[in-house]
Amino acid sequence: MTPDSDVFPVRPEVAASAWINETDYARLYERSLADPDGFWREQAGRLDWFKPFTSVKDASFDGEVDVRWFADGVLNASYNCLDRHLATRGDQVALIWEGDDPGESSSVTYREAHEQVCRLANVLKSHGVKKGDRVTIYLPMILEAAYAMLACARIGAVHSVVFGGFSSDSLKDRILDCGSNFLITADEGVRGGRRLPLKANADKAVAACAAVRHILVVRRAGGTVAWEPGRDLWYHEEMSKASPVCDPEPMGAEDPLFILYTSGSTGKPKGVVHTTAGYLLYTALTHKYVFDYKDGEIYWCTADVGWITGHSYIVYGPLANGATSLIFEGVPYYPDHSRFWSVVDKHRVNIFYTAPTAIRSVMREGDQWVKKTSRATLRVLGSVGEPINPEAWLWFHEVVGEGRCAIADTWFQTETGGFMIAPLIGAFGVKPGSATKPFFGVRPVIVDHNGQALEGACEGSLCIADAWPGMARTIFGDHARFVQTYFSAFPGKYFTGDGAQRDGDGYYWITGRVDDVINVSGHRLGTAEIESALEAHPKVAEAAVVGYPHDLKGQGIYVYVTLNAGESPSQALREELVKWVRQEIGPIAAPDQIHWATDLPKTRSGKIMRRILRKIAANDVEALGDTSTLADPGVISDLVGGRGKGG
Ligand code: PRX
Repeated sequence: MTPDSDVFPVRPEVAASAWINETDYARLYERSLADPDGFWREQAGRLDWFKPFTSVKDASFDGEVDVRWFADGVLNASYNCLDRHLATRGDQVALIWEGDDPGESSSVTYREAHEQVCRLANVLKSHGVKKGDRVTIYLPMILEAAYAMLACARIGAVHSVVFGGFSSDSLKDRILDCGSNFLITADEGVRGGRRLPLKANADKAVAACAAVRHILVVRRAGGTVAWEPGRDLWYHEEMSKASPVCDPEPMGAEDPLFILYTSGSTGKPKGVVHTTAGYLLYTALTHKYVFDYKDGEIYWCTADVGWITGHSYIVYGPLANGATSLIFEGVPYYPDHSRFWSVVDKHRVNIFYTAPTAIRSVMREGDQWVKKTSRATLRVLGSVGEPINPEAWLWFHEVVGEGRCAIADTWFQTETGGFMIAPLIGAFGVKPGSATKPFFGVRPVIVDHNGQALEGACEGSLCIADAWPGMARTIFGDHARFVQTYFSAFPGKYFTGDGAQRDGDGYYWITGRVDDVINVSGHRLGTAEIESALEAHPKVAEAAVVGYPHDLKGQGIYVYVTLNAGESPSQALREELVKWVRQEIGPIAAPDQIHWATDLPKTRSGKIMRRILRKIAANDVEALGDTSTLADPGVISDLVGGRGKGG
């Protein structure tokens, strides 16, 4: 990462036709900070309100941290994503579905999507789901995932989407935490030609969740599944009986829209709560301006709906804007390494949005997979999830985009709802590896260890100084944890958990997490979660997990394991532990390296010194720093000597 690297300027024809050019950005950004009420009042006019709001921003980052936007307004998110488009674009395609198998695809117009969502909303209602109830969604990347989210929004139920790659245990924890009483899943998922046993996982999870009354099951793969009559319901049967008419529930602007679980430094994943109006407005606005989305364009975000990127930039933002959004069930390497680009050609995709890990994985297979496709329709290329290394950035730009596509590296988080630092592609030039500058209304501050805000070019911890409409409002059932996690390190500011540099041009460079969160292939994992999964294994006495640089995944998972007395390390045990973590959390948490440790470096008060473990994992053993506070400095030489053995 080199903050002084070249700027790739906005091409004149892009600036000329963009929603926002450089002068607009400067003017609007300044206005959004100087007069947030005026700015956001105007912007909120892009949503349809059942009852207009009178107050705009009512937010404090101090004390209890109370954030409200448009608080007395009334609206419905599904109405904004569907109904209001019917008059003007009822026959326009809303969602394109591209199946795992390239022979399978379909699409639905806004009118058809509206009908499906209304029917599903009625199915939920007919089984007793009410406003405020939590509905868990555990689905593959099929159209029904979007319908399910919007059907919940339609009746005021709060959805909690759980990524289909999570294990039954992770699903169970999330169902229990939010007290969900209704689960929507599929018989099986299909990815890369392989089947994922979603219903079987759901059955296992629900066995420990007495509150779940029903499992609604989409028939996706057609395999046989276990069935509990009375509890289990087939989606297609229920839908065929349901009425296609369902009035949208009037929702307060601050009524919760969804819960999405994400990992933090400590403890179990937390249920981040997003509310209705601010979130919807923010995702719509960022989607439109960052990608410069124009009516009629085909937009494809490759994320899974189980993550915030899928929520904000497959479903809510694009549909609120009346866009055509593509949902992809498969993976970049199936049936071959051209898949991304052949889908681009097949559906004439204009805006393609993916993650650095996916870019790196297709890049290493060679340019021929890209070059055999046309990609002539592409106009904008986006990246999200982790810092993008300049090599991947340049390849994306030069090989995929043939130098003519704008690149948008977008930085945001589950908690921020939408883009915080990202280029508006018509407004300013970009630098490979920098997410560039803040979006309207976003006030980034870089602080030092003492919480002192730094000026000019600097490096430190990235905070946000004031509220923006798309931010999370709380952690489900634990507001104190919300305050503690995000607002206690630097009082009065939202702490992102990321480090950042700001260069002399005011561009931001995210350097990665500064807490105990690791980012594996753009997936966020808490080291504490993986440690407690490992420590639940009968042969493990203690485990410490750190991230280390990984060519493909960005960060890999490096595990130090101390075994119980009488147990000894072996290849078989290594494989068993990897399998164990896959089962406890999911395949994304599988350790890449296991380091058998006789002891872990601890301070005299018993705290594990992760700084040292990170250095050993990265093979940066020359500069271990101050080790004088260790209870037993001899541990270090044992660990350094043990590096790479059995990993
Ligand atoms: O460390 C940052 C990294 O991903 C974290 C947020 O993870 P999650 O909540 O799962 O959301 C991922 C998708 C938005 C951040 O704290 N991150 C995300 N986007 C970028 C990034 N790091 C660098 N550059 C990005 N564009």
